[in-house]
Amino acid sequence: MSRFSRNILITGGAGFIGSHVVRLFVNKYPDYRIICLDKLTYSGNLANLADVKKAPNYEFVKADIADFGEMERIVREYDVDGIIHLAAESHVDRSIVDPFVFARTNVMGTLSLLEAARRYWEKSETEFEGKLFYHISTDEVYGALELTHPEGIDSPFTTTASSSEHHHAYGTEFFLETTKYNPHSPYSAAKASSDHFVRAYHDTYGMPTLITNCSNNYGPYQFPEKLIPLFINNIRNKKPLPVYGKGENVRDWLYVEDHARAIDLIFHKGRPAETYNIGGFNEWKNIDLIRVIIKTVDRMLGNPEGESEKLITYVTDRKGHDMRYAIDSRKLQRELGWEPSLQFEEGIEKTVRWYLDNQEWMDRITSGDYQKYYEEMYSGR
Ligand code: NAD
Ligand code: DAU
Repeated sequence: MSRFSRNILITGGAGFIGSHVVRLFVNKYPDYRIICLDKLTYSGNLANLADVKKAPNYEFVKADIADFGEMERIVREYDVDGIIHLAAESHVDRSIVDPFVFARTNVMGTLSLLEAARRYWEKSETEFEGKLFYHISTDEVYGALELTHPEGIDSPFTTTASSSEHHHAYGTEFFLETTKYNPHSPYSAAKASSDHFVRAYHDTYGMPTLITNCSNNYGPYQFPEKLIPLFINNIRNKKPLPVYGKGENVRDWLYVEDHARAIDLIFHKGRPAETYNIGGFNEWKNIDLIRVIIKTVDRMLGNPEGESEKLITYVTDRKGHDMRYAIDSRKLQRELGWEPSLQFEEGIEKTVRWYLDNQEWMDRITSGDYQKYYEEMYSGR
């Protein structure tokens, strides 16, 4: 008889968001066994999980979700009853250069995991009872909204995540759970396809599934090719800050721990077969956000105010660059009472401080050294 009440498989747990979800579950639920599964691609980094590595309810498995045989074996061997699926190729720019790996991991990988879970659960005594396949998706599947108000209007909705000084919306439309899918990049097309497979497994086999679509996350442990950590590191190293196009694209930013808290709540209380949007009503034009980052980093490094503004370099726009994302997360607030906990100013302050205080983490990535963590941490096991 296992001493654990549940066996939860979290895929992509060594990545940015996944590591926050693993940490939250390992610490909050000592009676759950948390199996963190990750292929450790360029964006997977076991240093993100160094603090939970020794926890008695934590296990790490290195595996590729697109390897169906492996997924069958792992689901069976760990008697998995809940899956929180975050593993994915996640960077739009990479998907423009190499779309195949996005189809392989995001579509075939998700399908392998779904089928492995279905076969194992269907054979179990209680079948699908008490089981859940929770798929983490993105707001990008809805496509792009128009920038009908480029100067910004007062947002009709605010939450704790909205900045106290800046609570703009740049249009009157928001993504709802019912918004038609309209992905534009190979990344979002692959995520949309995986979402359809997840729904198909519910509708065809009756498998309990859930999908959430979240807006842009920021916070500690994000791989530094994404906007915020890349720019913090470049300011620190006095390197150019490559702003795509005119810097007018709008993103809706949420602190990563608030996303992890939403995942916890939805995993336990969400209604199966439902979709929930997650976001903080916190829209920023890229260039305005970049100026906030510059100001914060310069202040913390003791640079003269605005010194790093000169690093701003406008570069060729991203192909097919989506103009505006803005999530309406009122369903989640209404049904499950979720609210972001951090105001944007506080979140950015914490984030910049974290990257500046964790330069070794950053330097091990930029030098490529971080990929040795697996050998260092797991040799001899
Ligand atoms: P990330 O790139 O930091 O992490 C992805 C993780 O998946 C890495 O650890 C990587 O090693 C692992 N992985 C990749 N391919 C794999 C494979 N074939 N088998 C097993 N593991 C594999 O990404 P992230 O930003 O943490 O995003 C996590 C999830 O959340 C993704 O599904 C993404 O689509 C979604 N999402 C991200 C954001 C965001 O702002 N970052 C917003 C909404 C949704
Ligand atoms: O909306 C959710 C999505 O947010 C997630 O599904 C993705 O996994 C995640 O990567 C993120 O996608 P974006 O493309 O919005 O994130 P990124 O950090 O790459 O870019 C944010 C904005 O900044 C975007 O408009 C492009 C712009 N940008 C980005 C980089 C890396 C720049 O101007 N310069 C840059 O160097």
